[in-house]
Amino acid sequence: MSSTGLSLFPARRLIPYIPPTFISPSSLPPTSRIPLCNLPTPVHSVPSPLSTKFPTKNKFHLKRDDSTGGIELGGNKLRKLEFLLAQAALESADTLVTIGGIQSNHCRATACAGRLCGFDTEVILRCPDPSPDKFQGPSGTEGNLMYLRSSGSKIHTVTKQEYATHGSSKLLSLVSSSLKSLGKSPYTIPVGGSNALGTWGYISAASEFRKQFEEDDTLKNIKHIVYTTGSGGTAAGLTYGLIKSFEEKGRNKGYAISSDEEINFVKSYAEKSGVFLDTVYTGKAMYAFCKGVEEGGVVLGEGEEVLFWHTGGALGGYAEASRISSDFQQVKRMDL
Ligand SMILES: Cc1ncc(COP(=O)(O)O)c(C=O)c1O
Repeated sequence: MSSTGLSLFPARRLIPYIPPTFISPSSLPPTSRIPLCNLPTPVHSVPSPLSTKFPTKNKFHLKRDDSTGGIELGGNKLRKLEFLLAQAALESADTLVTIGGIQSNHCRATACAGRLCGFDTEVILRCPDPSPDKFQGPSGTEGNLMYLRSSGSKIHTVTKQEYATHGSSKLLSLVSSSLKSLGKSPYTIPVGGSNALGTWGYISAASEFRKQFEEDDTLKNIKHIVYTTGSGGTAAGLTYGLIKSFEEKGRNKGYAISSDEEINFVKSYAEKSGVFLDTVYTGKAMYAFCKGVEEGGVVLGEGEEVLFWHTGGALGGYAEASRISSDFQQVKRMDL
């Protein structure tokens, strides 16, 4: 892209990356990042998601990575994209190529952050029905798709079977090769932005939380850190950087398939706290954690507090809108 073109995209601003002090230079940390996130994300003390038989002795806190950016950017992916997009800029790429499920938070954030920084994007989406016609109706603008498509991203669809047969790396390289044959310079980002470079986003996040923990007395009793995992980059970065962490797997029925109990949990927690946990990642993880506590598999000592890392993803909940809204309060016509 010409320097004139780039000046249209002031967000593409590389700044030096200062790694946390516990990182040794021999681990070769990246040298630059593009500052896209609102950091540090706050830690909110929230109502306990445990049932009332557990009174308030175990307090809960949320690390609000759902608000790393605005609606189209927010969630855990933006931390990784700060490093990945910096590398794409250093390599003079013009097009980002990535892959994910139909309601991928990662593809949406990559497309929107990419556009903000002056990159085109092409995404491969794994769809239950890959027919382009499916994208003409309301399901073509549901949740993440609304923002992904608004950013002008080019979408290639594949079936779950094709995805499984070819694998994500091969599919990415097919799109990448065809872009190269057209004279473009693609930069490929793996599923979830989870590679060695993207992981620096969560190594830095661990250090960010450690500072909050040291400086804020109200966090001093946190003994458990709960987060959800998909492609693994968030977990890899956090476990590398945190003193003590706790991981609970929440894939009861499978990826993006929610049981009635999980949906009811997300609904009732939103009603109780005003916090919307998503139905694919964070709602399942928090539900599994609470179930573990209630059934005794997870032991919370007296007064031990829990930090739940809210990695975002609320837009994915649109795909479950009918189940979530089934018993919403009745709307009243104003009597004038
Ligand atoms: C909302 C949300 N939370 C958590 C995760 C899991 O993060 P990771 O892919 O780094 O394991 C994802 C991944 O797609 C996500 O979208």
